Amino acid sequence: MERFRHLLRDDDLSVEEQGIVVKLGLNFSRNTQLAADALKGNSIGLLFQKQSLRTRVSAEVAVANMGAHPVQLRGDELHFDRGEPASDAVRVLSGYLQLLMGRVNSHALLEELRESDRLSIVNGLSDRFHPLQALADLLTMSQLWESELKGKTVCYVGDGNNVCASLMLASAMQGINFRAACPKGLEPESKLVADAQKLASSSGGSISVVSDPLQGAEKSDLLYTDVWVSMGEESGANEHRKRLEGFQINSELISLASKNVKVLHCLPAHRGEEISAEVIDGPHSYVIQQAHNRLPATMAAFLFLLKPDVALDLSKG
Ligand code: CP
Ligand code: NVA
Repeated sequence: MERFRHLLRDDDLSVEEQGIVVKLGLNFSRNTQLAADALKGNSIGLLFQKQSLRTRVSAEVAVANMGAHPVQLRGDELHFDRGEPASDAVRVLSGYLQLLMGRVNSHALLEELRESDRLSIVNGLSDRFHPLQALADLLTMSQLWESELKGKTVCYVGDGNNVCASLMLASAMQGINFRAACPKGLEPESKLVADAQKLASSSGGSISVVSDPLQGAEKSDLLYTDVWVSMGEESGANEHRKRLEGFQINSELISLASKNVKVLHCLPAHRGEEISAEVIDGPHSYVIQQAHNRLPATMAAFLFLLKPDVALDLSKG
C-alpha cells in the first residue's frame, strides 16, 4: 500500500475518483478561487525535460491559485543526465516538496520516482501517457455534453501516441465508445488496448482500433487528433509523416461524423498535417476551451492527490 497518491497513468485513479476530479474541475472552471488557501504551506515541483506551453503555465497558475508555492525545474538544470539516481533525487526533493509533476523523456523515470513513495508524483506527459490532458478532455466533454459522456462515440485519428493512450483509458473509464483510427504499426500498445477494453467492459463503453480514418469517423460525436511527430521522435519524422498521410481531420471526415460533431486537439497543432485549418478554426472546434480547461483540471488533480477529503467536499454542489 502506497503512502502517497500518484498519477502516472489515467487508471491510477479509480472510476469514482476520476469522476470526483472531473466534477471538481467543473467547479474550478466556474471559480478558480474556490480553494484559494487549500494548499497553503505546500510546495510543488514542476519538472520539464521537454518543451511545454499549456502544461507549464496552467500547472504554475494552478498551484498559485490554491495558495501553494510552485518550483519550476528544467531538466537540464538537474543532475539526472549526469547520472544522479532518481531514488536519491526523490529522497532529497521530499524534504522540500509535497508533489512533483514531471514532463519526462522516459516514463521509466516517473516509475522510479514513484517507487520511493516519498511524495506525490504526477505525469505532466511522458512518452507513454498524458493523464492531465485527458482529465481536461473529459472536463471539456462534460461541458459540451452536460456531463452525459456515457454512450458517446469518440474517435481519435492519427498517431497512437501518449495522448491517444490516455484518452483511450480515460474514455474507457467513463463508458465512452472509443475508436482509435491509426495507421498499421502506429496503433496504441496492444497491452493498453486490452487494459482499456477491460475498463470499458465494466463501464458500458467499448474500445476498437481501425486502420481506416473514414470508418473511424463515421457517426462519431467527437473527433480528436494530435501531432504526427511527438517530442523526442524528430529523428524519424519524415517516415512518420508518410505513414500518417490521409489521417487528417478535415471536412471529409466532418461530413461522415454526426451532425453536431465536436473537434478537439490537445495542441500545439500543425494545420495541414493532422488537421486542416478549415476544421481547427471552424465551428466544430473547441480547442481553445479545451486548452483553457487544463487549468481547472490540473487544480482538481493536484488537490485530489494531496487532500482528497477537501477535494471530495468541493466537488459537490
Ligand atoms: N497539450 C499540451 O500538453 O501542451 P504543452 O505541450 O504546450 O504543455
Ligand atoms: N504527442 C505530443 C503531445 C504534445 C502535447 C508529444 O508528446 O509531443
